[in-house]
Amino acid sequence: MLRIVVCVSGGGTNLQAILDAVDSGKITNTEVIAVISNNPGAKALTRAENHGIPAVCMSPKEYGDREAYNQALTDKMKELQPDLIVLAGFLVKIPEAMVAAFSGRIINIHPSLIPSFCGVGYYGLKVHEKALERGVKVTGATVHFVNEGMDEGPIIAQKAVEVLDDDTPEILQRRVMEQAEWILLPGAIDDIANGRLELVGGKVRKIQR
Ligand code: GRF
Repeated sequence: MLRIVVCVSGGGTNLQAILDAVDSGKITNTEVIAVISNNPGAKALTRAENHGIPAVCMSPKEYGDREAYNQALTDKMKELQPDLIVLAGFLVKIPEAMVAAFSGRIINIHPSLIPSFCGVGYYGLKVHEKALERGVKVTGATVHFVNEGMDEGPIIAQKAVEVLDDDTPEILQRRVMEQAEWILLPGAIDDIANGRLELVGGKVRKIQR
């Protein structure tokens, strides 16, 4: 059984997609053992509680400085001992010590086709605003392993989504979620849980279903 911790900051629709996929059997061999949010107002916390999953809020504001927060977050993860950490819209940069402690066991979903529209400053709606500003005709989402960089880890899966003429950032965000994110992230978790996907020597090794 793959024990996962899901980290969230906002709406939690990706968390919901994971919970629904576990319930429906699209994700097997997996248990969500906890949800961690940096934002006390995150709707994702309510989604976790409604599902009977322990939900913890750890806000940087509760700590003296970033170093203290990073230490607390890393310690919390070590206490929970998950097999996999899933960043599902988590707006906190993962501390290096945590990346090192959970090497090859942290994945993230990003709402663009990396390496486009990613890195520092590209989060949430901003990603879609930038894609529309640039006038790309295709965007999408990427699931990747997390390393010390920002959206730089080895890519696991990507899915393209069409950009339409009248799109607003909100409309495009929703389409990317529906057509890519909510499919890719549960798929990657199921692959890892069932031994079809792993990081070996810094490279993604995937066995097709
Ligand atoms: C998603 O678009 C995710 O890719 C990005 O932040 C958004 C989070 O949405 N990193 P939600 O909280 O899962 O609804």
